[in-house]
Amino acid sequence: MTHLSELYKCRVCENVVEVVRQGVGTLVCCDESMILLEEHQANIDDAHYAHIEHLDDITKKIEFNHPMTKEHYLEFIEVVSNDGKYIKRKHLKIDEKPELTFKCECREGFYVRVYCNIHGVMVTK
Ligand SMILES: [Fe+2]
Repeated sequence: MTHLSELYKCRVCENVVEVVRQGVGTLVCCDESMILLEEHQANIDDAHYAHIEHLDDITKKIEFNHPMTKEHYLEFIEVVSNDGKYIKRKHLKIDEKPELTFKCECREGFYVRVYCNIHGVMVTK
């Protein structure tokens, strides 16, 4: 059984997929069950922690103090509203500044998650 917004990875080819509609089946890639990428909480002094600036009522800017080298980088940043109605994802390139500006009322609040090529899925709630 999958759940909305979960991330799964293939052990063989390293495909990563996100669930956009949950179901009872098991996700399979390269003839193997895909592994659920567990989310880990980022601490405020952690490079994976999202520093959030509220620019106005609905506009927010997120920044990270994370390296963006070939060896260690953030593959993407995602903003997910707590009511599940809003998701914004930005894919990043090597040497690109890891930041994202977005507009969302997000009345129920939101959380931010990143996918680091070394540390996996890190969340700021
Ligand atoms: Fe990292």
